[in-house]
Amino acid sequence: MQKPIAGHGSPGPKDVGGRGRYPEYPEGKLSCGGIDWFQAHLAKHDVSERNVSLYEGFIPDCFELYEHDPERSGKFAFALVDVDQYEPTRIALDWVWPRLNPGGILVADDYVEGCPILASAAIRAWLDTVCETERELIGLEDTQLMIGKAFT
Ligand SMILES: C[S@@+](CC[C@H](N)C(=O)[O-])C[C@H]1O[C@@H](n2cnc3c(N)ncnc32)[C@H](O)[C@@H]1O
Repeated sequence: MQKPIAGHGSPGPKDVGGRGRYPEYPEGKLSCGGIDWFQAHLAKHDVSERNVSLYEGFIPDCFELYEHDPERSGKFAFALVDVDQYEPTRIALDWVWPRLNPGGILVADDYVEGCPILASAAIRAWLDTVCETERELIGLEDTQLMIGKAFT
């Protein structure tokens, strides 16, 4: 069978075992149809190509593409990590944090206190790796955890 090019990757050991209490994200779930579909969708809503850069592929391959884009080497003021599964969430948080400017905001989606799997577990594990003086937990809105990067 051909590997899906979009949507979720195959679930890892930390994405299963919720006994139905948490959503499941099988391979290929939530695919919007790939980069061509997404580009057409943006055009339909008059979003200028000049304001958007798309990097196709799973994490971390798409981050590699970003790294090799000479026009996009700057840091971020805002980042949203919303990929549901444990492994890509953990990798994305590790990748994005050093690229966030001091004073920047990171939103980590799908954070449910006490959930031992999926993005929640990855966010919890990642938070433990970041020095408390370097980050400020601004708030939790629904399941969106907002974290500020300190001006240290
Ligand atoms: C809940 S959706 C959120 C999308 C977007 N933030 C939104 O609200 O429309 C999760 C997205 O993560 C993407 N995703 C999941 N695993 C991924 C991975 N390993 N690499 C790249 N994208 C992934 C899926 O394709 C899906 O579009």
